[in-house]
Amino acid sequence: MLISRPVFERPAAAVRPFALPALRHPAVSALLADHRALLAELLDGLGSPLHVVLPEVFEENVARLRRAFAGAGVTADVLFAKKANKADCYVRSAAALGIGVDVASAPELVGALAGGVPGHRIGISGPEKDDALHALAVQHGCLVAVDSVGELRRLAATARTARRQARVLLRTRTAGQSASRFGLSAAERAAAVGVCAERADDLVLRGFSFHLGGYSTTQRATAANEMIEHCLDARRRGASSAELVDIGGGLPVRYVEPRLWGAFLAQNRPAHYHAARNFQDFYPYGGQTADRAVTAIMEHRVDGAGSLSAKAGRNGIRFVVEPGRALLDQAGFTLFRVQQVDDRRDADGYAIVTVAGSSFSLSEQWFNSDYLPDPLLLPTGPEAAAAPAADALFPACVAGATCLESDVLTWRKIGFPRPVRRGDHLVYLNTAGYQMDSNESPFHDAPLPRKAVLRLGDGSGPPHWRLDGV
Ligand SMILES: Cc1ncc(COP(=O)(O)O)c(C=O)c1O
Repeated sequence: MLISRPVFERPAAAVRPFALPALRHPAVSALLADHRALLAELLDGLGSPLHVVLPEVFEENVARLRRAFAGAGVTADVLFAKKANKADCYVRSAAALGIGVDVASAPELVGALAGGVPGHRIGISGPEKDDALHALAVQHGCLVAVDSVGELRRLAATARTARRQARVLLRTRTAGQSASRFGLSAAERAAAVGVCAERADDLVLRGFSFHLGGYSTTQRATAANEMIEHCLDARRRGASSAELVDIGGGLPVRYVEPRLWGAFLAQNRPAHYHAARNFQDFYPYGGQTADRAVTAIMEHRVDGAGSLSAKAGRNGIRFVVEPGRALLDQAGFTLFRVQQVDDRRDADGYAIVTVAGSSFSLSEQWFNSDYLPDPLLLPTGPEAAAAPAADALFPACVAGATCLESDVLTWRKIGFPRPVRRGDHLVYLNTAGYQMDSNESPFHDAPLPRKAVLRLGDGSGPPHWRLDGV
């Protein structure tokens, strides 16, 4: 799988690293400014890397998103896409706040139920789900997004055996998605609506969903509009219960200032990376915020007339939204201990910092891309108390401690404000959405990193911490 042996070029000349500081939630700033000793103790006791997860920030994100939908005048059921982070604490927050969870496997469903989320608030997505997942979903009254007519027939059979009705969304390809491997074609959708009518004792058609990559609000609004039309069409065919339009996840997260992001893209080139890597594709780190995206989607003009939200309101349509990344914005960060520094500044113009851990704990690196927000250096030696010299940039990339040449956490040369030393700590900010654990691996028999759940409360006392999942 990952054991490739690429031959890397040496960059021709040293270049000054471009600074791309990560935006920071005040709670994150407070932890890094006032509670370094606690963070150091946790890293020491629980091992490197350590993921710090912040459910209070998740809860704030839920409230902000709910306000965005309310502001647009629509009703939306928010389901947290659990795949974006495996920590239990977020599911518990979801349960406490009365939002739902989107799951795509039986273990994720069990995790959501165990976290206290009732089945009727759980959505099941993912292609061609197996019968065991269907059976659990039917037992617990979950909303199942069905991907094919074959899957729909299997679900109907499972519901018949359980003597319960399955609540169904039909996942449909949009007009521009003929090549997608997900969802029903127009002909299959028509057939699936027919199956729902034939098997009305076993299936109740609740609405339509779609899968869309990317972050275009126009494309998402256009797709949502198509799903409204499918609901209206299904109602004409007798499915009076078709009232839900699931707009999926894909709400964007802003990691860095948009102005800096634009400047970064304008000057970016292979010489800025270890081994002159030439990445072609990055997450839009300086893009729109999730709440603005919701407003743009809902205000989008459809059918050359009024807004999507107005059309939904006129037709008794309720939205479902399944954000993963957006609800985890700023809700966690990852600490690494520096294990060694290979100072190649004289030869190559930069150093290679190796951390205890690997890039399997920073998933972006395994999508042929780089996680671009600058990691922060927390020095730990005696010189830590002194201010860094103004002109003392220490250019370095960051590598993992495995035997893979490709195990690099940051290919881009970072301009650290002072020399990095063995024993220092690096902080990768805003890693809760997918970065922490989507691609984690026990490679080299390494234990999977722990997650420490931190709550700051009103800030008057020390933060409260516990291990996630206990
Ligand atoms: C069906 C479904 N719902 C929700 C999501 C979550 O997307 P995001 O984390 O971008 O919000 C995904 C992402 O893959 C998905 O496939």
